[in-house]
Amino acid sequence: MHPPVRYQIVDNLAIVTIDNPPVNALSHPVREGLQTAIARAVEEHDVSLILLLCAGRTFVAGADIREFGQPPRKPHLPDLLNQIEACSKPVVAAIHGTALGGGLETAMACHYRCAVREARFGLPEVNLGLLPDAGGTQRLPRLTGVEAALDMMISGRPIGAGQALETGLIDKILDSGDIRAEAISWAQSLAASGARPRPVSAMDVPGEDCNAGFFADYRNRIARKTRGLLSPELIVQCVEDAVSIPFDQALARERSRFMECKSSPQSAALRHLFFAEREAAKIPGLDPSAVPRQIAKIAVLGAGTMGSGIALACLEAGFDVQLLDSNEDALSAGQERISSLLDKQVEKGRITANEAADRARRLRLAQAYEALSDADLVIEAVFESMEVKRDVFAALDQACRQGAVLATNTSTLDVDRIAQATSRPRDVLGLHFFSPANVMRLLEIVRGAQTSDEVIATAMAFARRLGKVGVLVGNCFGFVGNRMLYGYGRESQMMLLEGVPPERIDRVLAGWGMAMGPHAVGDLAGLDVGYKIRRERTDLPDDPCFYRVADMLVERGRLGQKSGSGMYDYQPGDRAPRPSAMVAQMIREEADRLGVAQREVSDQEIIKRCIFALVNEGARCLDEKIALRASDIDVIWVNGYGFPRFRGGPMFYASQLGLRNVYDGICRFRETLGDRYWRPAPLLEKLALADDADGW
Ligand code: 3HC
Ligand code: NAI
Repeated sequence: MHPPVRYQIVDNLAIVTIDNPPVNALSHPVREGLQTAIARAVEEHDVSLILLLCAGRTFVAGADIREFGQPPRKPHLPDLLNQIEACSKPVVAAIHGTALGGGLETAMACHYRCAVREARFGLPEVNLGLLPDAGGTQRLPRLTGVEAALDMMISGRPIGAGQALETGLIDKILDSGDIRAEAISWAQSLAASGARPRPVSAMDVPGEDCNAGFFADYRNRIARKTRGLLSPELIVQCVEDAVSIPFDQALARERSRFMECKSSPQSAALRHLFFAEREAAKIPGLDPSAVPRQIAKIAVLGAGTMGSGIALACLEAGFDVQLLDSNEDALSAGQERISSLLDKQVEKGRITANEAADRARRLRLAQAYEALSDADLVIEAVFESMEVKRDVFAALDQACRQGAVLATNTSTLDVDRIAQATSRPRDVLGLHFFSPANVMRLLEIVRGAQTSDEVIATAMAFARRLGKVGVLVGNCFGFVGNRMLYGYGRESQMMLLEGVPPERIDRVLAGWGMAMGPHAVGDLAGLDVGYKIRRERTDLPDDPCFYRVADMLVERGRLGQKSGSGMYDYQPGDRAPRPSAMVAQMIREEADRLGVAQREVSDQEIIKRCIFALVNEGARCLDEKIALRASDIDVIWVNGYGFPRFRGGPMFYASQLGLRNVYDGICRFRETLGDRYWRPAPLLEKLALADDADGW
């Protein structure tokens, strides 16, 4: 095995190269190697300057996240970085790729920093429920000023080299294309000019940001986005220290706040998701020789809500898109929706007018299937009806070239029956986007019984190109996400009949961390969508209470925001939900008619009924292999359904709670609410009752 840190002398320079693929994370051997290399360079008389470089595709991308669950081992990163900063000879960092987390902190412990123009710099610890632990909260404000430093640490978003130079984070941009040669030459010029070590810890924090009230204002500004999270507040406290107490003391407090974050369930949940999202891309058993097909031209069928959003997502990723709808008005409405979304993105400064024009140019419209003859991938998003979809796929089979991938965006229907309408079921699969399709990160990739490995590999690669998290799921009603949603929705509907007002259910679940409460979501998505799906199903329970309130609302024309009223009332031009006295009365009368007893339901019960229903159905998906892994279910719920990231997804949350506790909770509901819906899933039961199981 090659050493993770190499040491080489070139003239008067000691070149220290970190080589720890894939991302040069600061694992224990790297820290040890760095410590030894720096000590050696200090000892060697001929060395006047130390240059720190990284091999491979990137500068250090951070601490090794895999080590966070293990006992810490010396040298600890903060101590190592203090040693680098205190070094008697100047240390220069040369950065390419991404300098993230502990990587950027390492660069800031060096005395001079240069970087290639494409390099990116960030402190993304917040995304893992952490805060920078190796002096980042103290050194960054000294280099960039307080506000820029806070923005980087609270958002976790990296900045580019131009901005890094402007804010003072780096000293020089290297443009020659040969980072090593140019960095050596810059380092030599620094040595020749007598450059001295320049410890960032000795710098003053630029004070202009911090007038009275600055931190209070800043806290108010971030309150909504950081709701429920621990580390953002602790980051702000660390930066308050940076402006008010000596560096060493502030560093000690940074360390203890980091330890508090590291041991929090939130950080465990966010670290779980980091690896879960990467694991989802790996498909066990997929033929390794299956090469993704080339995709350049995409056709989207149906220019409605989903079709236009999918088309926009594809345009944003650089594809040529043909949008087709059998209805001329729907087609032009779809085009208008796309161009108005592009205009809004320009207005908000997210893209330039030129980029918007380029996207608009790559969109073509059509009404006839002949236009699809050269498409590499067709995504169907027409009405949710098996009959309509089978007709469409039969027509696609005639119109599309051999080798084209044929995908359906159905949210619930049987992908195999749709595939059987073609002569090429191996090329057919589900690509289930979430609304709004150009925004939501999730793409459920539904494998049909005959879908080929090559087509699966193509879909996974396509998801990556769209910047989405693709998760492979099996074919059943609702796949993973919507199938589980049924249990969650069912309970939130039942509780209405038991006398819990919709606004209370929404408030409790949003307070628990869901992006929105279920009733507000229903109004946003349109209550008619679920209504139509329930009409198509033949396997609904024989239960007059099942989704009764939602059905009644639709039958009275209250479809949600789009019709101006749904579970809530809305005022024109305002999307704020207002409790409706009429709906409250309607629910009371219906509960009376159905003989549903009114009960006191605690906040805890509201949460448990909705979330345990999800977990129980998730366990069934896992048992039936509709989901490949429990972590895939977590990725789906966090990225597609507004489940709080800081709880790690429903299955991780259940493991943290203890599967036995979840099982016991479900058994208690079986006693109080009956066994129609509250039978523990066999897998949950098996694991909960096993002595040694602590997770899925
Ligand atoms: N530790 C351990 N493994 C890591 C890692 C890290 N910091 N960063 C990435 N990896 C692993 C991934 O798990 C993946 O492994 P796999 O191939 O076995 O699945 C592999 O490296 C490649 O990662 P990606 O698939 O994400 O590669 P990309 O090229 O798409 O992205 C990246 C590269 C931008 C560096 C991205 O991996 C990333 O954002 N990494 C995390 C960066 C981060 O959060 N750093 C802060 C860590 S916390 C910290 O430093 C605390 C400090 O204050 C002390
Ligand atoms: P929509 O009603 O807004 O749009 C459907 C469009 O398809 C209409 O413009 C219609 O003119 C067109 N169309 C109908 N038959 C056609 C045919 N034979 N050929 C060409 N065009 C035809 O519907 P929406 O909401 O966009 O849903 C589309 C699909 O996406 C459905 O399968 C739905 O289940 C699924 N879906 C919907 C989500 C949502 O939140 N609305 C989320 C995820 C999936």
